[in-house]
Amino acid sequence: MQIDIQLMPSSPRRYLLSDRIVVVIDVLRATSVMIHALSEGALEIIPVATVEEAFQMAKVFPRDAVLLGGERESKKIQGFDLGNSPREYTAEKVKERKLIVTTTNGTKAFHLVSSGREIFAGSFFNIGAIARRCLELDKDLLIFPSGDEGDFSLEDAVCGGMLIDLITKKGQKPIALTDASCGAQILYDRFETNLLEAFHLSRHGKELMKRGFEEDLAYCAQIDMTDIVPQFKDGVIRAK
Ligand code: MLT
Repeated sequence: MQIDIQLMPSSPRRYLLSDRIVVVIDVLRATSVMIHALSEGALEIIPVATVEEAFQMAKVFPRDAVLLGGERESKKIQGFDLGNSPREYTAEKVKERKLIVTTTNGTKAFHLVSSGREIFAGSFFNIGAIARRCLELDKDLLIFPSGDEGDFSLEDAVCGGMLIDLITKKGQKPIALTDASCGAQILYDRFETNLLEAFHLSRHGKELMKRGFEEDLAYCAQIDMTDIVPQFKDGVIRAK
C-alpha cells in the first residue's frame, strides 16, 4: 500500500483516482458534521456546491423528508434549517431525514475526487474506523484534506497525519509514504497530545472562534466518537 496526501485542495491529477481509495477530510467542520449526522441516524447526505443547487435539489423531495444544512462564511445560510455545527445535528432533528448540505470547502472536495475507487468521509470523530477500513481494503490511498478556500489547512493536515500514523502503526505489511504523507505524519506528531492547539493556530480555527463557534473546536477534537465510515457514491454520502 502507498499513502499520499494532497496538501493543497486542487483536482488530483497525478494518478488514476479510480485505482485509489480516497478519504476526504474537513475537520472544521464539514466532514465532522456529516459523520455526526449519520451517526445520529440521518438517512443520507447530498453534498452540493452551491446554495442555489441546494434549494433546487430540495424541491425534488417532500419538504418534511429533507433538511438543508451548511454554511457560508461559517454562518447558517438564510432559508436553511441547520448551520454547520456538528452539535446541531442531533437524532431529534436528523433521524430518518435526508440532508442536503453545502459548505465553503468540504462539500466541493467530494466532487473533486468523485472518480475515486471508494471515497470516504473522515474526521477525528471516526479516525480509528477509517484507518481499519483502509487496512482491510489494502489499496493505495489518497488522503484529501479539503483545505481552506484553495489553501493548505493545518487542522485537516494534522487529521490526515493521524490517519497515516494509525495505518502505519497497525498495518502488518510495509507501507510506502510519499514526502507529503511523511510530512503530515510528522506534523501530527507535533500536535498528538493537544489537537486543539492546532485548531487554535489555524486560520479557520481562529475565524470560527471570532464568529462565536469556539465550542465547535473542542467538540471536533474528539477522537473515535463513532465507528461509522461514511461513503460517497453516486453523489450521496451514506453510512456503511
Ligand atoms: C467548509 O466546508 O469550508 C467548512 O466546513 C466551513 C465551516 O464549517 O465553517
